[in-house]
Amino acid sequence: MVGATVCEVVESRSADHPVGAFVLAYTGWQTHAVVPARHTRRLDPDAAPVSTALGVLGMPGFTAYAGLLEIGRPAEGETVVVAAAAGPVGSAVGQIAQQRGARSVGIAGGADKVRLLVDEFGFDAAVDHRSPTFLDDLAAATPDGVDVYFENVGGTVGEAVVRRMNTYGRVPVCGLVADYNATEPRGGAEPSPAFLRRVLTRSLTIRGFIQDEFQARLGEQFQREMGAWVADGTVRYREDVVDGLENAVEAFRGLLTGRNVGKLLVRVS
Ligand SMILES: NC(=O)c1ccc[n+]([C@@H]2O[C@H](COP(=O)([O-])OP(=O)(O)OC[C@H]3O[C@@H](n4cnc5c(N)ncnc54)[C@H](OP(=O)(O)O)[C@@H]3O)[C@@H](O)[C@H]2O)c1
Repeated sequence: MVGATVCEVVESRSADHPVGAFVLAYTGWQTHAVVPARHTRRLDPDAAPVSTALGVLGMPGFTAYAGLLEIGRPAEGETVVVAAAAGPVGSAVGQIAQQRGARSVGIAGGADKVRLLVDEFGFDAAVDHRSPTFLDDLAAATPDGVDVYFENVGGTVGEAVVRRMNTYGRVPVCGLVADYNATEPRGGAEPSPAFLRRVLTRSLTIRGFIQDEFQARLGEQFQREMGAWVADGTVRYREDVVDGLENAVEAFRGLLTGRNVGKLLVRVS
């Protein structure tokens, strides 16, 4: 199973990677791995906890940063909505949007996560997508409509938010977690005529992306800017640590049903 990992070097032929050093690598789900030094990035445990290289200062944080700033382009006073907002991508999106002067509205599953979004991550408003009053709550939380919808989930949540988009709204399409575990295709015309009509009449820009495409241009800027925000507490993050490689499968299943709060990590040793 593929996956990024933070590893401690236990044996090495590279002078730059002595035994005891920490590196970011892509070893997948296993206890030990042999990796070429050039495929790793050395981590400085004094700069930030090494686990953040997998979350807020790693690929998920970068996904939020690049997708929001390059495609979403939030402006002062605009409303940015993001779902899966208690996760590593969504929680970073909401906080970065505020750094650009936008109002951030998070969508998450359950009252506890909704509280966390406002109390810990500082979202301006938060809405529970599992609540029977979701649509009314979303309308109340976005009285001026939605200028940027950072799409992490798709499904009925995505449909509801897109219906509230303002003219010239932007939709970075980052993920569609609502459908990852589906065993049947969702019905209906693809895309629906109503959806396309909204794109047309409101002049919406919808753009998918895989974070890699921005790495060469924005990678260093992200490490600098996000690193400073995390160090001084401007951007906060949560990690959800599960102990034991043998529990990785169950933890992964939980990710697809919202059991995790923050970046889901499996501690191997
Ligand atoms: N494009 C890229 O390059 C890129 C890179 C990294 C990640 N991604 C995508 O970004 C998204 C967020 O990733 P993450 O790592 O931050 O995930 P995450 O938030 O840690 O986990 C996924 C969350 O999605 C929510 N969810 C699950 N089923 C849902 C449904 N049916 N409707 C609404 N919400 C649902 C759950 O939260 P609730 O309890 O709040 O519902 C769950 O905790 C994912 O779609 C991922 O694939 C894309």
